Formats: sequence, structure tokens, C-alpha cells
Amino acid sequence: MLQTKAWRNLIISIAVTIIAVVVLTRSIQPAETPPSNQSNQTPSSNTSSTSSSTTQVSGVNLYNTYCSACHGSNGSGASGPALNIGSWSDSAKVQTIVKSGKGGMPGFQGQLSDPQIKAIGDYVAALKK
Ligand code: HEC
Repeated sequence: MLQTKAWRNLIISIAVTIIAVVVLTRSIQPAETPPSNQSNQTPSSNTSSTSSSTTQVSGVNLYNTYCSACHGSNGSGASGPALNIGSWSDSAKVQTIVKSGKGGMPGFQGQLSDPQIKAIGDYVAALKK
């Protein structure tokens, strides 16, 4: 009799543990999946910003991810022309090129959101001239 009771208690506590684990993992999972509506953007540089989400509009981070491979860090120029020069002190002009592209440069409209493009434009416009 006593043994049966002990077994039952054991089984109950195992069951409770399993249920607790299931409930816990279920409640944790949704929080771990980030909103990934733009997750398959392929920046030409492979600076993968692991935790960057679509909400990120930091000009410097976006520039380093999408532009620096061709325009150098700080706009110093590389395969693409330098951007740290006076003619690119106008954010709106930069944004137009980022959207539509130019010559060998791809356009980023559709890949980057308007706030992101604006953040990049502002960043490039403010680069040390
Ligand atoms: C794949 C390489 C590449 C990437 C990535 C790239 N560009 Fe360019 N970009 C170029 C090239 C090449 C030109 C020159 C195009 C031409 O004049 O025919 C250019 C031109 C420009 C110009 C005009 C410069 C001038 O003197 O005519 C601006 C402004 C510019 N890029 C900004 C950006 C920004 C901002 C980004 C990031 C969103 C970016 N580019 C990403 C290659 C690139």
C-alpha cells in the first residue's frame, strides 16, 4: 500500500515537472522569434549585424552594413567614389541615389525602409568634409 502511494507521488511529480517544462518552453518561444519581415536582406558587405532588427535606423550602422564595402568606412571611398566630400553634404541628394542607384551602384529602395534611407542620407551628409 505504502509503496503504491510512493509510486503515485513520484509519477505525479514527474507529470507536474513535464507540464511545467512544456508550459515554460511554450511561453518562452514566441519572445525569441524576432519580427523578421526583412531578414533576407543581403548586404553586399558581410558585416552581418546579428541582432539588428527592422526597427534599427542608426545611420552609422546602416552605412557600415550597406555602403562601406564600396564607399569605405567614413565615406573615404573604395570601389565606389568618396562620399566625404562637399557635394554630398545634402542628405536629400544622397537619399535619391540610395533609392535609385547610380551606374554600378544598386538602388536600395524596397530593401531599405524610408526611415533607414533617411538615416543613411543624414549620416553621409554629416561625414567629415
Ligand atoms: C556595390 C557597391 C556599392 C554599394 C553597396 C553602394 N554604392 Fe554608392 N556607388 C557605387 C558606385 C560604383 C558609384 C559610382 C556610380 C557612377 O557614378 O556611375 C556610387 C555612387 C554613389 C553616390 C554618388 C557619388 C558620386 O560622386 O557620384 C552616392 C551618394 C552613393 N553612391 C551613396 C551610397 C550609399 C549611401 C550607399 C549605401 C546605402 C551606397 N552608395 C552603396 C557603388 C556602391
